[in-house]
Amino acid sequence: MTKVLVATEKAFAKVAVDGIRKIVEGAGFELALLENYTEAADLLKAVADADALIVRSDKVTAQVLEAAKKLKIVVRAGAGYDNLDLEACTKHGVVAMNTPGQNSNAVAELVVGFMVFMARLKFSGKSGSEIRGKSLGIHGYGNIGRIIARDAIALGMKVYAFDPYVKKAEEGVELLASLDELYSKSQYVTLHIPATAETKLSVTHALVSRMPKGACLINTARKEVIDEDGLLKLMAEREDLRYVADVAPDKLDEFNKFGDRVFFTPKKMGAQTSEANINAGLAAAEQIVKFIKNGDKTFQLNK
Ligand code: 3PG
Repeated sequence: MTKVLVATEKAFAKVAVDGIRKIVEGAGFELALLENYTEAADLLKAVADADALIVRSDKVTAQVLEAAKKLKIVVRAGAGYDNLDLEACTKHGVVAMNTPGQNSNAVAELVVGFMVFMARLKFSGKSGSEIRGKSLGIHGYGNIGRIIARDAIALGMKVYAFDPYVKKAEEGVELLASLDELYSKSQYVTLHIPATAETKLSVTHALVSRMPKGACLINTARKEVIDEDGLLKLMAEREDLRYVADVAPDKLDEFNKFGDRVFFTPKKMGAQTSEANINAGLAAAEQIVKFIKNGDKTFQLNK
């Protein structure tokens, strides 16, 4: 019988797992669960007899693919797929997919929450500020960026965006020609770029230093896109600058020395809502069923 393994270091909400089970078993397949595991060895063992795999940010390395002798498809239930070794997937004849857009609203809402939280001085009780009338720069205008733009406009913010791959934005969003311009004009900048060779370390001291006084940088994307040494240096130079992230930096202790000016969630939680778990988890299960039954390769990443 076709076996679908859900391997999640950070488990889906139960309601999402129930939904995945319904789809998988409804198709006549078997569901196996490996949730909240802490050792890579557990994953290596669990994938041994799996035909299909659903993961979140779990690392699907060459070693995992080597151990997964029967594997035909892996679906990253989410958007960013920097955790999948696509070359190794191709080498092992495994189709790799993601579920773009399915968890975008959850991340967008967290960004709005982060802006209010930082504007209100981390709910300290001191007199903070409001986000209405402030400017927001969206760095990377994809599924998440578009939702944030709509939300921010509704909240009365002035919205700018930059994305080298996007030529037109929705009404009310000013698409800018350069990153320098985006950072110069934005009191808040929110990052929505993937971690690629092109973007890693691309948020530099020089770029962030363009932001106006009292600025706040928001990172719900990936820690790798930040030049941490550059940002640490800038935060030491500029007492007004703040940094909030859902993807804790490698140099967490050094950033935490800035106290009230920084905030990091204890665990990446941008996509951690029941709704996002259901959307992404069920989409992943459906994509697997369609692939195994009909050879449907929509959303394949390693073409
Ligand atoms: C994504 O790329 O979809 C998000 O970063 C969510 O990641 P998670 O599933 O590990 O929460």
